[in-house]
Amino acid sequence: KKRRNKKRKRDEATEEAQAQRDNVLVEKPVKAPSSAPEKVVTVPVGNKEPKHEPSTDQTSAPKPKPKSFADTKTNFTSLREKANALYELRKKLPIFGHADEIRQRLRDRDVMLLVGETGSGKSTQIPQFLVNEFWCRPTPAKVLQEDGSEKSITVGGCIAITQPRRVAAISLARRVAEEMGTPLGSSSPASKVGYSVRFDTSTSPSTRVKFLTEGMLLQEMLHDPWLTKYSAVVVDEVHERGINVDLVAGFLRNLVSGKREGRGGVPLKVVVMSATADMESLMGFFQEGFQEQEQEQQQGQKQLSNGTENGENGENSEQNSMAISACHIKGRQFPVKTIYSPEPVHDFVDAALKIIFQIHYKEPMPGDILVFLTGQETVENLENLVNEYAIGMDPSLPKILVLPLFAALPQAAQQRVFAPAPPRTRKVILATNIAETSVTVSGVRYVVDCGKAKVKQFRTRLGLDSLLVKPISKSAAIQRKGRAGREAPGQCFRLYTEKDYLALDETNTPEILRCDLTQALLNMKARGVDDIVRFPFLTRPPREALEKALLQLLNIDALQDDGSISDVGLHLAKLPLSPTLGRVLLAASENGYDCLLDVIDIISCLSVENIFLNTTSEEKKEAAETARRDLYRREGDHLTMLSTVRAYAGENVDRKVWAERHLVSHRAMQSVMDVRKQLRSQCRSAKMLPREETTGHYPDPSPDLILQSFLSGFATNTARLVPDGSYRTIVGNQTVAIHPSSVLFGKKVEAILYNEFVFTNRSYARGVSAVQMDWVGEALAGR
Ligand code: CDP
Repeated sequence: KKRRNKKRKRDEATEEAQAQRDNVLVEKPVKAPSSAPEKVVTVPVGNKEPKHEPSTDQTSAPKPKPKSFADTKTNFTSLREKANALYELRKKLPIFGHADEIRQRLRDRDVMLLVGETGSGKSTQIPQFLVNEFWCRPTPAKVLQEDGSEKSITVGGCIAITQPRRVAAISLARRVAEEMGTPLGSSSPASKVGYSVRFDTSTSPSTRVKFLTEGMLLQEMLHDPWLTKYSAVVVDEVHERGINVDLVAGFLRNLVSGKREGRGGVPLKVVVMSATADMESLMGFFQEGFQEQEQEQQQGQKQLSNGTENGENGENSEQNSMAISACHIKGRQFPVKTIYSPEPVHDFVDAALKIIFQIHYKEPMPGDILVFLTGQETVENLENLVNEYAIGMDPSLPKILVLPLFAALPQAAQQRVFAPAPPRTRKVILATNIAETSVTVSGVRYVVDCGKAKVKQFRTRLGLDSLLVKPISKSAAIQRKGRAGREAPGQCFRLYTEKDYLALDETNTPEILRCDLTQALLNMKARGVDDIVRFPFLTRPPREALEKALLQLLNIDALQDDGSISDVGLHLAKLPLSPTLGRVLLAASENGYDCLLDVIDIISCLSVENIFLNTTSEEKKEAAETARRDLYRREGDHLTMLSTVRAYAGENVDRKVWAERHLVSHRAMQSVMDVRKQLRSQCRSAKMLPREETTGHYPDPSPDLILQSFLSGFATNTARLVPDGSYRTIVGNQTVAIHPSSVLFGKKVEAILYNEFVFTNRSYARGVSAVQMDWVGEALAGR
């Protein structure tokens, strides 16, 4: 033991000396406090002290030596210089002064709830505060194998930080890598910070801080229910209350406080962070989990001691109720003046356009403008309008740089938003509610808020999700406004009246109460949760929605008749697609490679909002008809998407020019190509496609096979033509019209299959193809 202590002292001295040389922030690894309650410093099986592994410790690592060719390109000196410069900014963040307190809280407890206003530094700093803690090191443990033998494994060493959105996960990873002075993700084997989002993972063998979407953490849990490689999971932005965060919280509740029996009992720490959350209900949620554990323990002890109660139970109970700690960090917020619209606004795109130029012409205060809109379409409309008007602007004024920001935007374009504006230029960022709390764009002093957002809404009668444009909540309006006051006093222009503001709901409705639960349920079933009703949901979903989801899973053969998961279901749970699209992919693979490749192309298009540029006005419509004539297919939108992908992929002169000529969004097509590549590679690993990349020469597609594959997942998204010339849904018998954006708009066919049901002023089917009634019958009967 003496020798070990001596070695540790030596290691620490070396670390400090190294840090002084490197002049980077060192958060000294802290020894386990001797007074810490035993449950916190759980001694792993094997009773070994956590080993100091300098190779995986950022601050104590000797100057990284190039390990590979890729690594030799990394300039560690310039990375460190940048980190040093950023350190000065980090010190000014409101959270910085709380570092010791936060570390101590997590040494004492396993669960911490942290409320901190947006911009206080939660997402970027918390992982850095914790990464060098003694409990955050890889810890050897012994686990029992099925055959009864023991196996030595390593548990922990890495921190996961979940995000509701891809763009936030990537931009935070990039920022934290810079702050830690380490290369990002897979760019170097020595990188300490990585990220993982659907269709894009970038980590290295040395990753210690990993930003990932909630969905990706759920995926990882399917392969490793114990989250073996993590010492802590930080659940960020919990106030967004997307459906996946409810699942993540439920699963984590079962893993905290020494509940990783399957991993030698090495504890997992959980930090739940939010800008606004109602912490009391979260506190209650985790406390309930600890109480359940206690009851189980008591039961166990009762059985052991033959039914006699003992004093120890009382102690446990006290320990557990104290196992959660809550902390509130005040943010940095400058005053923001609110300007309401005096009259209700009918066309918010037009109103936003006016306000943007009013600010640009009249407001002397410098600063960028952030506009909150509802979706890709409104963003792109306004982008075109601002660019058009900017051409005729007074040349003595600064230039305007319009930057869109929405989820389906390709990575590179999203990242442009974060770069500072060039000299004498004002950035105008046109965003969806992605910029509400998830991402921080510096330089913003003006916010324009349309007061609406696109939300998913489950329509029980139809049994599917529709996208609806709805008024935001007060809490969201406050968040939007706050974005103008991060760095200096600002102004917020609300494109609605004060009366309308006062009538808004207080907070957002959790997604689990309003969306399709099929994917969530499949995930739970794949994790072996058989009794859905007893699962610890943060908010319990309505029974009717759960039943609908179970039915849908049965419909697509993901469950067996007794409700347990089927082989198809297990396969679907591992695909990065909704169960319905996953089912289409499986059906296509049964129809042969060619059909599968074609279906992958179509699914890739469905994963972006719209591949065609918006052409709703009459004159544009005509231009589009002409430009896209050779792409349109009479079978409908699915085959039209396929011909577009094929033509775009086959274009070897200039894809951008090709896209412009066909009024196709080059930006959307870049995303489509990314997703297509990822899906192909997933299908190759799942042995659904041959190992080798195909040559690029494809036979003519078989529309019937392709559409029948789609019906395997979408048999309930169908409608038939009725004698009065309208379409009625097969399930629910509702009237539905073909959306004007469809190539089948105004056409009469026997039956249609549609990808989504949109409700604006009437019900529309979007992404429509013509199908035969007997195919629909077969698809429904085959269930
Ligand atoms: O999580 P929270 O909203 O509390 O703050 P954060 O995301 O940790 O951001 C703290 C600060 O880091 C921001 O105010 C930005 O100055 C900076 N930051 C950045 O420049 N780029 C990012 N991608 C994220 C944060």
